[in-house]
Amino acid sequence: MLHVQGLTKEYDSPAGPLAILTGVDLRLERGEAVAIMGPSGSGKTTLLSVLGALERPTAGSVTLDGENPLALDETQLAAFRNRRIGFIFQDHSLLPQCTVLENVLVPALVGAADASAEARARKLLDAVGLAPRLDHLPAQLSGGEKQRVAIARALIREPRLVLCDEPTGNLDAKSASAVASLLLDLHRTQQTVLVVVTHSDALAAQVGRTARLEGGKLV
Ligand SMILES: Nc1ncnc2c1ncn2[C@@H]1O[C@H](COP(=O)(O)OP(=O)(O)O)[C@@H](O)[C@H]1O
Ligand SMILES: [Mg+2]
Repeated sequence: MLHVQGLTKEYDSPAGPLAILTGVDLRLERGEAVAIMGPSGSGKTTLLSVLGALERPTAGSVTLDGENPLALDETQLAAFRNRRIGFIFQDHSLLPQCTVLENVLVPALVGAADASAEARARKLLDAVGLAPRLDHLPAQLSGGEKQRVAIARALIREPRLVLCDEPTGNLDAKSASAVASLLLDLHRTQQTVLVVVTHSDALAAQVGRTARLEGGKLV
């Protein structure tokens, strides 16, 4: 499924190259999950960006189901991300002028028309407890509800890989726990590979397997 080997990432800086990832290895098979912890600035978001093919690594390899996204051109890569990968960020990043249902459908608007998308969106919103909120705008939702919309949006294309960057970071303890439970329930049902960056010990414990990013490596 997700195979990562010898991944390094450097950013250029006026003082010379800045090594952020110095050799990350990670193997996750279908249905497996890992929580990634580590101090601020340790490269967690950078790692997710490379895993999600939003950024190119300096060296090393990432394959998803044996496919190497780095070999794709920009158009193919956009399609690959859209189909295979779901992203959930700390800040829900919903479109403010679109309803809950429309926000969940956004990833499904890319490419060929998909008549079953709306039925899937309604089912997912039901699963995250938002069936009575389909026509609400994001401004009319609580923080936890917005994150639940973001989860439904990330799963609408039935991705094999779901990447989350501090998905409960902006939520109070009760909403955080509800969002985490939903995320893990859907992960188990859909057998996705799940990578969750978090500062929350409670969320890490729910995910089970935990790795720390230290000195640019996963330990
Ligand atoms: N686009 C970029 N250009 C230069 N440096 C960056 C860039 N993105 C992140 N960094 C640096 O990489 C380091 C790791 O950042 P990040 O991955 O966001 O850490 P974390 O998510 O663990 O807090 C930080 O020191 C940050 O300043
Ligand atoms: Mg970060």
